[in-house]
Amino acid sequence: MTTQTSTQTTERTRVLTGITTTGTPHLGNYVGAIRPTVRASLNPATQGFYFLADYHALIKCDDPVRIQRSTLEIAASWIAAGLDPERVMFYRQSDIPEIPELTWFLTCVTGKGVLNRAHAYKASVDKNHAAGNDPDADVSAGLFMYPVLMGADILMFKAHKVPVGRDQIQHIEMARDMASSFNHLYGEHLVLPEAVVEESVALLPGLDGRKMSKSYDNTIPLFSSSAQLKKLISGIVTDSRAPGQAKATEGSALFQIYQAFASAEESASLAKAYADGIGWGDAKQILFERIDREVAPMRAQYEALVNNPAQVDAILLKGAAKARELATPFIQELRHAVGLRSLASACTQQAPAKTARVAVPAFKQYREQDGQFYFKLVDPQGRVLLQSMGFTSPKDAGLAIGQLQQDEAQAMAQLGQHVALGDGVSLSDVNESLASLRAELAEKAKSKS
Ligand code: TRP
Repeated sequence: MTTQTSTQTTERTRVLTGITTTGTPHLGNYVGAIRPTVRASLNPATQGFYFLADYHALIKCDDPVRIQRSTLEIAASWIAAGLDPERVMFYRQSDIPEIPELTWFLTCVTGKGVLNRAHAYKASVDKNHAAGNDPDADVSAGLFMYPVLMGADILMFKAHKVPVGRDQIQHIEMARDMASSFNHLYGEHLVLPEAVVEESVALLPGLDGRKMSKSYDNTIPLFSSSAQLKKLISGIVTDSRAPGQAKATEGSALFQIYQAFASAEESASLAKAYADGIGWGDAKQILFERIDREVAPMRAQYEALVNNPAQVDAILLKGAAKARELATPFIQELRHAVGLRSLASACTQQAPAKTARVAVPAFKQYREQDGQFYFKLVDPQGRVLLQSMGFTSPKDAGLAIGQLQQDEAQAMAQLGQHVALGDGVSLSDVNESLASLRAELAEKAKSKS
């Protein structure tokens, strides 16, 4: 088999995801993200881009030592878990200077109002409201800009699919909108990405039975020593049933964690042991052995890497060089597109004939996880004026848009059950904005003829 260089990405589906470098990987990260991603990275029909989102980390964390240590630990964990840096693009965000440059280009095509509605920023503002503080108290411009930086991560490498958690879907939608706006203004350069939410992946409970998460302080690090792992497992909450008493698997954190590692037969056999009244100490021993069996072979490599940070640096820098083979020419293309170009070339190039750009609302079409086709009408500030229900085909959605554009009053009556007004939006807002959209289309048609 001839190995193609991994920069030949044209044919394959590009899958990209980032990991914020603020913590130490735990079993929940392993089961929920690392293990499925490493498996998916072996699919020859895809080209994987996995990167350490260390610029994003600065938004949440101002401890330089922790950022550095987390970057090392996360990189070492992914490699130890089987991610092959020769096969995929594996790099550190801050080694790609093209990303902050693209962030700026996208900043300039993103409505401030759109960012006002980003969940993370809004949550902070709402919290301030609730506490009677100034709405933007302790909110950095970094938090506000988070979605734009993320958009640049994604659009830089023309990603098709972005596997993320539910909380990140909005960010991918924003990246799509940024790409459309950019393309609308400067030509088709950016690829519109799609979020992929893995529903089947297990959510792992932590030591206290709540979701395993750093913020609950209930995690089990992926790579603690075998002795440490055993000790932590002994601290998982159980009920007070004595050995000999039958135990319920339902709601048992211990059982759920076991299931995330064990085969179906192994889980069935532990379920039987529960029913037969296994003691909690013995059940914990079984869990420890099962996890350790999976983790131990990786642990040695993890430790070797963490103890040799220069080697990890070298791997990441090599990955960045490979990624920049794509990023550097692409940012040149984008610089040229927006007009940051050689002055000599500018003199010979005609500016595209364009009437003064007025901010008008726009219809956005998209497909949801449910497989249906939707559209929304969004004003220039990013406010949703109309939201459609699902259509079975893109053509039906397109027809509905066409109707609305032609005669909104009649269309609204006909489409009644297919579209709903956005929050706090009145019918006259919609009519007004459709009228301005129509005026703009007429203007365009005129300037063409
Ligand atoms: N925001 C993501 C998270 O917190 C991390 C991230 C940064 C990311 N850039 C990305 C994920 C680009 C996907 C694509 O999980």
